[in-house]
Amino acid sequence: MYRLNNKPIICGITAIGPYNVIGYNGGMPWHSKADFYHFKTTTMSFPCLFGRNTYENLPRKPLPGRLNIVCSSKYKNEYKDDVFYARSVEDAIRECKNFDQMFICGGTQIYKYALEHNLIDIMYLTQIFKSSLEKEIELNRSGYDYFPISKSEFFDVTKWQTEIIKYSPDVLPVENNPITCQFFKCVRIR
Ligand SMILES: NC(=O)c1ccc[n+]([C@@H]2O[C@H](COP(=O)([O-])OP(=O)(O)OC[C@H]3O[C@@H](n4cnc5c(N)ncnc54)[C@H](OP(=O)(O)O)[C@@H]3O)[C@@H](O)[C@H]2O)c1
Repeated sequence: MYRLNNKPIICGITAIGPYNVIGYNGGMPWHSKADFYHFKTTTMSFPCLFGRNTYENLPRKPLPGRLNIVCSSKYKNEYKDDVFYARSVEDAIRECKNFDQMFICGGTQIYKYALEHNLIDIMYLTQIFKSSLEKEIELNRSGYDYFPISKSEFFDVTKWQTEIIKYSPDVLPVENNPITCQFFKCVRIR
């Protein structure tokens, strides 16, 4: 994948659980040390773009070692305390023109916009397996946020070239709870 016209490679990064769930009441519906490790190592040193809701709900912000960009139609493209506040996704991408790649980090609305506008070159997808969450979602359908397209789309070989990312077991942190992650890199076929 090569950079074109001074545009960074645009990556999305997401963790998707049972039934395409990605969030619960504005936060994450799981705590996965392995997925945090994956997110940190994958995004480190590159700009990370968040929708306003996701950024406001981050427990610790800005994320260190990365240009943090927050998007809202109410912002006016400015830096405050080293965070770039962008009024559109396109303005955010333009701000990253000197980087090789950038990451669109959610949530639902930003992913939807980026996918509908065909902006994403590479999607980093973590599939989360957590049987207790699966049962909770089946019982209570409110409060959850969902990824805007079915994760099965990323396994459509006419659209994405998808491969498993393998970590050596000694680098991945051990989970505190019964949760399993599988990591994928999905390169859009243009
Ligand atoms: N599992 C994961 O990997 C993951 C990752 C991130 C987030 N999440 C989850 O996602 C959920 C939040 O998603 P969300 O859809 O509520 O919020 P969001 O996408 O984080 O933020 C939405 C806001 O961002 C701004 N925005 C979105 N698209 C825009 C555009 N094209 N141009 C300008 N501004 C734009 C708008 O702000 P204004 O209304 O101010 O214009 C919009 O209201 C949470 O549950 C969170 O935990 C999950």
